[in-house]
Amino acid sequence: MSSAIERHAAPQTAVGRMIAVASGKGGVGKTWFAITLAHALAQRGRRVLLLDGDLGLANVDIQLGLMPEHDLSALLAATVSFEQALHHHAGGFDILAGRSGSGDLGSLDPITQERVRQVLELAKRRYETVIVDLGAGLDPFVRQMCCRADQLLVVATDEPTSLTDAYAVLKLHHRDVAPMPSSARIVINQATSYASGERTHATLSRACQTFLGTSPRLVGVIRRDDKVQDAIRRQTLLMLRHPTSNAGQDVTILTRSLDPD
Ligand SMILES: Nc1ncnc2c1ncn2[C@@H]1O[C@H](COP(=O)(O)OP(=O)(O)OP(=O)(O)O)[C@@H](O)[C@H]1O
Ligand SMILES: [Mg+2]
Repeated sequence: MSSAIERHAAPQTAVGRMIAVASGKGGVGKTWFAITLAHALAQRGRRVLLLDGDLGLANVDIQLGLMPEHDLSALLAATVSFEQALHHHAGGFDILAGRSGSGDLGSLDPITQERVRQVLELAKRRYETVIVDLGAGLDPFVRQMCCRADQLLVVATDEPTSLTDAYAVLKLHHRDVAPMPSSARIVINQATSYASGERTHATLSRACQTFLGTSPRLVGVIRRDDKVQDAIRRQTLLMLRHPTSNAGQDVTILTRSLDPD
């Protein structure tokens, strides 16, 4: 299908990688983490696009206090071009915002699904890293995006519900891609210490090893930090408002391991 999206595409092949951020359980910190990872990668000089893949309850724009003129839904509806849909953030990365309540991505029609695929292909031609913040749950769209990603990051906390849901994401991914690639990895967020975060990862990893025969590696532990809530309330980037916060430092360290020099 030749579409407006494809006609805007540069002729070169994709060079970027797509990172999907999922969790199963809601409220574990996916959106905050995706935003902060985008910022940390931009600080390392990478060309980064953050795409709000939670069209049901999009909130990248809300966490950052943006009022984007256009968004992903307009791009998918082909009423704006890729360039017009972008928001250039002062943190040094671009955003394709979503719109809360604009639709259930789990039931996208085939044409819109094809357009999502085209948008991602185009994004990967233009950016070194495309981060997709996914919604909670495990609807078909979330699973598709996990499969399409070059790297899946599953965010979990030490709450039993989070661990159970993170395991469910990994189990379905293992089934969908058969077997789960080593690029599927775990981020432990809101940990009380590195040691407790590592224990949380070990618990999740043991369940995966026992039932799936594979154990996704830990990308990093992010400590619980009140400054995260403060930055979100002020609708700004954590590392701009609190450059030396614990959680910010943890994301910086984690980003280095995801993006070695
Ligand atoms: N490291 C942290 N320390 C303290 N609080 C945190 C941390 N990470 C996230 N939070 C808190 O968790 C809350 C939920 O964050 P966020 O909205 O990013 O989660 P989410 O997984 O994207 O939720 P949803 O599934 O609803 O999209 C925020 O209000 C934030 O303050
Ligand atoms: Mg979110």
